[in-house]
Amino acid sequence: MTEKEKREVTEVSEAQIAVHWQEEGYYHASPKFIAQANMTDETVYDRFSLDNFPNCFKEYADLLDWYEYWHTTLDTSDAPCWKWFVGGKINASYNCVDRHLAKNKNKTAIHFVPELEEEKVEHITYQELYVRVNEFTAILQDFCGLKAGDRVTLHMPMVPELAITMLACARLGVIHSQVFGGFSGKACSDRIVDSKSDVLITMDAYYRGGKILDHKEKADIAVAEAAKENQKVQKVLVWQRYPGKYSAQTPMVDGRDFFVNDLLKKYYGKRIEPVRMPAEAPLFLMYTSGTTGKPKGCQHSTGGYLAYVTGTSKYVQDIHPEDVYWCMADIGWITGHSYIVYGPLALGASTVIFEGIPNYPDAGRCWRIAQDLDVNIFHTAPTTIRALRKIGPDEPRKYNYFFKHMTTVGEPIEPEVWRWYHEVVGKGKAAIVDTWWQTETGGFLCSTLPALKPMKPGSAGPGMPGIHPIIFDEDGNTLPKGAGKAGNICIQNPWPGGFQTIWGDRDRFVRQYYTRYCKNPASKDWRDWPYLTGDAAVEAPDGYIRILGRIDDVINVSGHRLGTKELESAALVVPEVAEAAVVPVKHDIKGIEPDLYVALKPGVAATPELAKKISDAIVREIGPIAKPRKVWIVPDMPKTRSGKIMRRVLGSISNKSDVGDVMTLANPEVVELITKMVQG
Ligand code: PRX
Repeated sequence: MTEKEKREVTEVSEAQIAVHWQEEGYYHASPKFIAQANMTDETVYDRFSLDNFPNCFKEYADLLDWYEYWHTTLDTSDAPCWKWFVGGKINASYNCVDRHLAKNKNKTAIHFVPELEEEKVEHITYQELYVRVNEFTAILQDFCGLKAGDRVTLHMPMVPELAITMLACARLGVIHSQVFGGFSGKACSDRIVDSKSDVLITMDAYYRGGKILDHKEKADIAVAEAAKENQKVQKVLVWQRYPGKYSAQTPMVDGRDFFVNDLLKKYYGKRIEPVRMPAEAPLFLMYTSGTTGKPKGCQHSTGGYLAYVTGTSKYVQDIHPEDVYWCMADIGWITGHSYIVYGPLALGASTVIFEGIPNYPDAGRCWRIAQDLDVNIFHTAPTTIRALRKIGPDEPRKYNYFFKHMTTVGEPIEPEVWRWYHEVVGKGKAAIVDTWWQTETGGFLCSTLPALKPMKPGSAGPGMPGIHPIIFDEDGNTLPKGAGKAGNICIQNPWPGGFQTIWGDRDRFVRQYYTRYCKNPASKDWRDWPYLTGDAAVEAPDGYIRILGRIDDVINVSGHRLGTKELESAALVVPEVAEAAVVPVKHDIKGIEPDLYVALKPGVAATPELAKKISDAIVREIGPIAKPRKVWIVPDMPKTRSGKIMRRVLGSISNKSDVGDVMTLANPEVVELITKMVQG
C-alpha cells in the first residue's frame, strides 16, 4: 500500500467532512470605510512580491522602535529554523507600553469588562499599565530571580493582570507560556514540565457563566503532577480577582504560594529598564495540539513576531489610535496573544479584555458592551457567531453601536452565517475580514486587506502581502488557481511571524512542517522548504482561498484546537479502556465535535457509569472543551487486516454518511453493529 492509500484507509480528516459550499459573489467595503483605511495602496502586493522578499518586511519592522537596527533581514543558515532581523535589539514591553507615554499616557490601553454587569468596567491608561507592568516586573526579577531566557508558566483567566504579566515577562526577556485558563491542572502541568518552568503564575478565581470558579485548585494539581515528572515548581504567584480578598477555597501553601498583592507592597513605584533583547530571542511559547498526544510548544520570536502582528493589526484589523478594538478570543490562545495584547498595544490602541462568555446573562451582552464602550472594531470566531445568531438573531438591532470593521477567525464560516454577521451584527456597514492562520504562524496567512480586496463569504481570501501560498496534491504537483480540486496548502516562503521551532524538539518541527514537500533537506535556500500548514484548501480563479479543514489528527472544536491523540490518551487513562478512537462530527454551533469510540478490556461490562467515567477523565486530563459529544462503547473497533483502527469508518457512522466499502476489513460485521448503535 502506498503512503497515500494508508492515510486514506486509516484516517478521517476534518477536510473530508467539510461542507463544500459554493463560491459566493463579492461584497465591497463602503466608501466611508475605504476613505479612512490604513492601507489603500494597491502597490502593497507588488512591494511584498517574492521578488522583493525578504526586505519587504522592513516595512512592518519599521512600525516598531528598535534599540539597534538589524544587519541581516533573514538568516537561513540553520534552515528551516529561520532567523529574522538578526543583529537587531528590541524590547516588546517597551514597544507596547513605554513608547506610548510621551503622547498618549492618559489614553486607555485596556478596557476590562468583568463578567458581572453590576461590576464596574476598569479603564487602564497607558500610564497605569506602565506602572503596573514595572512593579510586577520587579517581583519577577527581585522576588523570583527570573532573567532573560527563563520560562514561566501562566495559567490565567481573561483579566488585565494576564496582559500585565505577559508584558512584565517580556520586559525582562523571560519567556512566558500562558496556558488557556479553561485547561485542567493536569494539562497545565504537562506544559510546566515540557518548558521546565519553576514559577507558575495564576489567579485565585474568575467568573464564568455567572459563577465564580475556584482556579487556584488547578495550580495545586499542576504543581503536584509536575513534581511526579521531576519538575519542581518553586513559587506560585497568585493574583487576586478582588485585590486583598481571597476568592478560592483551596488553602495557600506556606513558602510556595504568594499573593501578588502582598508582594507588590514592597515594589510600589519601582521602575525596571526594559532588557534590550536580540530580535530572534524567544518571546513566548504557545502550546498547541498536533498529531501525537503530546502538545508542542510553538516558540515565537521577539522582533519578527512583534513586527508581523503589529503590521497585520494595522493593515488587516485597520486599527487607528482612536479606535476601540475588541477581540473576543481568549488570551490563552494565539489569537489573544497576537490580536488582543501584542498587536493592538504595539499600535497604542485601546483593547478590550472581556472576562465572561458571550451569552451571559443574555444574548444582548456583547452588543451592550459594544454600545457602552463605543467599540468600532470587533473580532470573533464563527462558533460564537453561530451561537449568537441562534440565541439572539435580532439582538444586535436593539443596540446603538457602530462597527466599521469585523473579523472572523479560527474556522471556516458558512456563507449563511457570514451574511447574518454582515447584515445584522455589522448592520450592513462593517468591512469583514476572514483571517486564516495558526498558532504556529503568529499572525494572518490569508485574508483580504479590507479596503483593497472585496469580501467573499466563506472564503479567507488571497495570501497576505508577503505570504505566498501554494496548494500541492499528494504527489507534490502544484494545483493551479481554479483547478477546482482541494489539496494541501503550504506557504512557499518564510515570514517574520512564523514560529522558530518546537520548544526542545527541532526534529519534530522539521518533520512535521517541512519534510513533506522539502525539495532538498541539505538546502539552506528557503525556496526549498515550503511550510506545510496541515489544512486542505481550494483556490478559486481569483486567487481567493477556501480552507476546508485539517488533514491531520487535529480537530477544531468551537475554534479550539485539539489533538485526537490527546483525547484518546486521556480516555486510555481509565483502566477499563483497551482502545480509543476519536473522530470529528459536524455540529451546528461548534463546527466540529469529538465523538469517542472505546473498546473495553475483556470481561469489563459496558455501563452508562463507565461511559461517564471516561468522559470525566477527558475533562480532568484536558478540560471541559474536550468533552466528547458521546462515548460509544463498542464491542470491537473496525480494523484493517494489519490491525489499524479505521477512523474513517467511525467518522462516517458518526456523521451519518456513506461508510463506503468495508468488505476488506478484518471484521466487517462490527460496522453494521456500530451503525445501529449510533444511528438507531
Ligand atoms: O484548520 C485551520 C483553522 O484553525 C487551525 C489553526 O488553529 P489554531 O492553531 O488553534 O489557531 C486558531 C487561530 C488562528 C487552522 O489550521 N482555521 C483558522 N482560521 C481559519 C481556519 N479555518 C478556516 N478559516 C479560517 N479563517
